[in-house]
Amino acid sequence: MSDWTRDLYKRSLAERQRLVAQHQGLSKRQQDYLVQHCSERHNEVIENYLMDYAVPEGVVVDLLVNDRRYVVPMVTEEPSVVAAACNGAKRVAQSGGFVAPEQERLVTGQVFIQDVSDPQKFREWCRLNEAGLLEVANQAHPSMQRRGAGAKDVQVRQVGEFMSLDLLIDVDQAMGANSVNTMAEAVGRYCQQHGWHVLTAILSNYALDAVQMVECTVTNEVLATKTMAGRQVAERIAALSKLAQVDPYRAVTHNKGIMNGIDAAVLASGNDWRAVEAGAHAYAARDGQYRGLSQWHTVPGGLRGTLALPLTVGVVGGSIKLTDQSQINYQISQIQTAQELSAVVASVGLAQNLAALRALATNGIQAGHMQMQYRSLAMSVGATAQEIAPLVQRLQKASRVDTNVAKDLLTQLRKEENDAREI
Ligand code: MEV
Repeated sequence: MSDWTRDLYKRSLAERQRLVAQHQGLSKRQQDYLVQHCSERHNEVIENYLMDYAVPEGVVVDLLVNDRRYVVPMVTEEPSVVAAACNGAKRVAQSGGFVAPEQERLVTGQVFIQDVSDPQKFREWCRLNEAGLLEVANQAHPSMQRRGAGAKDVQVRQVGEFMSLDLLIDVDQAMGANSVNTMAEAVGRYCQQHGWHVLTAILSNYALDAVQMVECTVTNEVLATKTMAGRQVAERIAALSKLAQVDPYRAVTHNKGIMNGIDAAVLASGNDWRAVEAGAHAYAARDGQYRGLSQWHTVPGGLRGTLALPLTVGVVGGSIKLTDQSQINYQISQIQTAQELSAVVASVGLAQNLAALRALATNGIQAGHMQMQYRSLAMSVGATAQEIAPLVQRLQKASRVDTNVAKDLLTQLRKEENDAREI
């Protein structure tokens, strides 16, 4: 470790930016960028903060969930994601919308005990002390209990050589990570005081008591393409869904498509998308084989889709609504409760999945993707806002596309425009 990195976190933001720029060889333009894209506020949020990393935000429209139409912010760097979500959402809205029942929302706090020679004795102790354990947990976070939420149940599992004391906690409108950890640690101390050897206490992101379901039925009519009848599209989507149940290789990609929508909506809502991701993939493998999180089956006149995954999202706590961006996003979505957010996020995931499977079942994914990818490519080779559309048109006609081709086509475009101006 060279000297300049020592105690970097103790430096002022300006000094840290200067040191990184100097030692990592940033150009003058890059240094200016750092300075122009940072905030003292965010300097308080993470260690060794340098700048804000901007990712595009768009909105999915026409998302009809439980008879309410939503406009939902999505944050993503992948060009086709928002377009695909809108496409899927529109087809579902035309067929009656998504139905997402209100989910149970309990988060588990785990207290791990080791060196338990008699598991039955520990179980019995937990059973006899259940009221005390819940009391200890709730006293660690009294405001939660005042709102009618808080620790509700104690369960015990033997996991290999360890015992897991699981506290089931109603986190009310929050995602609850900090509260659950505080409560679990308090119970851990209590167990330790009573002679049990506590290894650690932490929430579990495998939130099986907060599984959100969503379903929709799409008519054959809205699935049809110019060249394929709706019934055939429906059958092919159902076959793709079956494939994701039997082939883990395909299931991972299938679920990646779902998470394209879910992560983008969760990120825009200020929630912890890594927690949602981790829980979702564990849920996808809950019976021992990794499978698609959604399923599609043909029904008379159309296609029925269902999706279920653990979703612990909140509308208060953490960084939610602290920043201007977060406040703007809640104003846009008009989402008021964690239950509503959960229903909407799951619906975005199913919409995203429908759009991907419909594309895969018909023209293939590249046809739609390339339009968006070409826009990114055009920008990456330096096309101005006015040059993007004509360059994309040229890229679409090219027999082979890569960065060099894009650069050549841009040079050619500029030359033709110059020539035309001179005439
Ligand atoms: C690409 O980001 C997502 C897809 O690969 C999803 C899928 O294959 O279902 C299109």
